[in-house]
Amino acid sequence: MAREFTSVGVVGLGTMGAGIVEVFARNGVDVVAVEISEEALERGRATLTRSTDRAVARGRLTPADRDALLGRVRFAVGLAALDAVDLVIEAVPERLDLKRRLFAELDRICRPEAILATNTSSLSVTEIAVATERPQRVVGVHFFNPAPVMKLVEVIRTVVTAPEVVADVEAFCRRLGKVGVTIGDRAGFIANFLLFGYLNQAIGMLEAQYASREDIDAAMKLGGGLPMGPLTLLDLIGLDVAYEILDTVYRRGGRDRRHAPAPLLRQMVTAGLLGRKSGRGFYTYERPGSPVVV
Ligand code: 3HC
Repeated sequence: MAREFTSVGVVGLGTMGAGIVEVFARNGVDVVAVEISEEALERGRATLTRSTDRAVARGRLTPADRDALLGRVRFAVGLAALDAVDLVIEAVPERLDLKRRLFAELDRICRPEAILATNTSSLSVTEIAVATERPQRVVGVHFFNPAPVMKLVEVIRTVVTAPEVVADVEAFCRRLGKVGVTIGDRAGFIANFLLFGYLNQAIGMLEAQYASREDIDAAMKLGGGLPMGPLTLLDLIGLDVAYEILDTVYRRGGRDRRHAPAPLLRQMVTAGLLGRKSGRGFYTYERPGSPVVV
């Protein structure tokens, strides 16, 4: 019998964290949503409100269901609010030192039987797990952007993760309406290892001026049967996030040159062109949402 998770915590309410909170709350799970400051908490709350309001406007959610969903979320500043949850998902920025410190703290605060999960997209789950005294209860649970829409969740087990912990998390993913795939702790797991080599090549093709951004995107959208072209997708993911993933997969994954971040990507990140969230990446955005090409 799979373990029931009745209350979960999410730490970090950026794009991914806020989306993960929505997935849980929409599926009847009580969520404690945690940030480090009131300002960050308000930004997370605003993301959740915007997304659920849009679902209501599109007729995918009734106003009553939206209110019930929001009623399942308790917002809090500080990790102390997580002392009674069954499972915590961490979705803070992709820095190993930060995640290791956070997991050591969670280990002290959370109940001994609680499972601690990281939503890291490319860092080593093992290195995060050994910052705690319960590495057998630490897993990767990797959602995809936008989390409320994308069906896939990668469940990452390390060499010390208890098999029943993996089985419980896989069952929980099914309850959330997601499809879980399970993989060991290798750089980029399954999807990002394969996806980011391709995205990086697309940037290289633009950088070498072989084709325009529109033609590169059209080729893969219309010829590759994908929902978005690679440059549009990079703007959705965030160019800073994409850079971090490529850099980590390059260094951890055998220095395959396909993963060496394209120089143009680095320059854009340095210049603050981060994609949709900053208003400009490969395309320009009037506001977060559909591209307005300038
Ligand atoms: N939050 C909640 N719902 C959203 C959403 C968001 N951020 N963005 C879109 N949606 C919903 C819309 O409301 C709509 O729902 P409806 O059809 O029931 O009304 C549905 O998704 C489709 O949205 P749109 O009609 O606005 O636009 P599209 O049909 O183009 O779909 C998309 C948007 C779902 C983002 C689609 O283009 C897509 O699947 N793109 C590829 C995304 C992808 O590859 N993600 C993976 C990135 S890699 C990653 O995340 C790994 C990480 O480690 C970085």
